[in-house]
Amino acid sequence: MTPTVLLLTPFTERFMQRLHQHFHVVDASSWPDILTGLQGQEAQIWAVITSAVKGVPDEVIGRLPQLQAISVRGVGLDQVNVSLARAHGVSVASTTGILSDCVADLAFTLLLAVSRQLIPADRFVRSGQWQQQAFPLAARVNRKRLGILGLGAIGRLIAQRAAGFDMDIAYYGRRPKADINYTYFDDVCAIARWADYLVVAVPGGPETDGLISSDVLEALGPTGVLVNIARGSVVDEEALLQALRTRTIAGAGLDVYMNEPCAPQPWQGLENVVLTPHIGSATRETRQAMEDLVLDNLIALQQQGRLLTPVE
Ligand code: 8YV
Repeated sequence: MTPTVLLLTPFTERFMQRLHQHFHVVDASSWPDILTGLQGQEAQIWAVITSAVKGVPDEVIGRLPQLQAISVRGVGLDQVNVSLARAHGVSVASTTGILSDCVADLAFTLLLAVSRQLIPADRFVRSGQWQQQAFPLAARVNRKRLGILGLGAIGRLIAQRAAGFDMDIAYYGRRPKADINYTYFDDVCAIARWADYLVVAVPGGPETDGLISSDVLEALGPTGVLVNIARGSVVDEEALLQALRTRTIAGAGLDVYMNEPCAPQPWQGLENVVLTPHIGSATRETRQAMEDLVLDNLIALQQQGRLLTPVE
């Protein structure tokens, strides 16, 4: 019997074709309410496919009696209740490993763009101002101090890129890593005080909620730059807006926000922030590999009884 998969977020045409070859599909990606939309099909759902951003509502996990697996496009699991899933005998798979390089690339892109004033410089040339005056000097990146919050797979790749810029690297995390000799800080304010650049690469969720507070921004100081490629919830956005307005910090590069997709208003008029619309993993190559893995995980579960990249 062909199992039925519940799809919670839109995927590419290519993915959909492959998905239909292997499974029955209940496409809930445009439904305002999943449980209302299911209309009695709950007992048919064998697996759920979603993205890290969309996640799965807790009540959906509890209401699908035959659910075996949740296959997530992405690595952040702050919107998927893994322990609840486990309690219901449901395994979770993520697309771990595949996207780390692209997210680290974007972290560095933002860091460079903020420091070298890339966006204002582009505007300067386009608007013809260059003919009247020279562009203001920016801040050097190479040989500066980079503090990484969260030395997981992405954090380590950010460090690798920073090494190519001869940066002095330190990290913050719950505990020091045995295999790493960068300087370790167990205090966020202390690493912010030390760093010229602070890059957020910790997972989202209750443990890191509001980790970047006004105190941390104060410690980062007027020449410091914050980069966030993790989750909006990690940064107290009001405190950050205030710090950018008052130049408590020099600037910020953000790919993630409290409420996505976010409205432009709060950021309007702020020249010292570079904003991208949650595109860390959004390259054609990486997204294709992620989609493939989302489906390959379910095919492996169906054919061999195990997920390829289960969340431990
Ligand atoms: C994506 C992400 O934006 O992996 C994550 O945690 O936030 C991203 O890769 C998204 O989930 C892609 O669908």
